Amino acid sequence: MGEYGRPPPYGGEYYYAERRRGGNFCVRCICCCYCVLFLLIIILASIAFYFYMYYKPKMPTYDFQSLDVKDFRYQPDFSVNADLIITMKTDNPNTAIGFIYGEGSSVNVTYSDSNICTGKLPSFYQGQKNTTIFQIELKGKSTFGSGLYEAFQENEKNGKIPLKVPVQIILGDIKLKQFNVFANVTLTVHDLKPGKKPEVEHSQPTFDVKF
Ligand SMILES: *[C@@H]1O[C@H](CO)[C@@H](O)[C@H](O)[C@H]1NC(C)=O
Ligand SMILES: *[C@@H]1O[C@H](CO)[C@@H](O)[C@H](O)[C@H]1NC(C)=O
Ligand SMILES: *[C@@H]1O[C@H](CO)[C@@H](O)[C@H](O)[C@H]1NC(C)=O
Repeated sequence: MGEYGRPPPYGGEYYYAERRRGGNFCVRCICCCYCVLFLLIIILASIAFYFYMYYKPKMPTYDFQSLDVKDFRYQPDFSVNADLIITMKTDNPNTAIGFIYGEGSSVNVTYSDSNICTGKLPSFYQGQKNTTIFQIELKGKSTFGSGLYEAFQENEKNGKIPLKVPVQIILGDIKLKQFNVFANVTLTVHDLKPGKKPEVEHSQPTFDVKF
């Protein structure tokens, strides 16, 4: 006869025995779960490591090519018509990973905290080992008081071009994590006069990637 068949001598001991068994079972169960979990973590970590070593993911690089001023006219009514074209080159060095440049990008040209013109990147897919040159057109008309005109005249008051692009990582057909590319360029406008196209100088942009 098993232990279970035997009637307990008295309730207290029976419950004590039962509780201990139950406790043991629970402990074993938790142990087992932890073991499985631990194994799972090791397996997943190995897969991730293999994946990483095999595909050697690298960030794409971004190069600033040129900034063309199509239009930058200061009107007698204290407004500026701006139309700038930024040309950039992006290089994807990965053999297995592609990138999707999303819809939600934005590029602004600000001068003394006023938005002068805005634009966005074309949305495109960049495949493996691909170099793509793309253009961003920035257009806008802004009106401001004569204070900004003075700011334009002083070269030390530089304009800024902050840029933000959401980028999705693609492996085969699988969409992975999305990250954002940020960039800043500083603009200096020389010789701003009504009706005349000024000289626009720019700095080398700084890039930053945030997950
Ligand atoms: C890179 O991808 C773009 C867009 O898909 C394509 O137009 C271009 O020809 C590709 N460039 C190279 C070098 O494969
Ligand atoms: C550009 O300006 C718009 C509207 O003011 C804003 O929503 C966006 O975040 C700005 N983009 C950047 C990169 O600063
Ligand atoms: C761009 O400029 C802003 C504010 O000036 C700063 O917070 C940000 O880190 C800069 N980003 C890059 C990519 O340089």
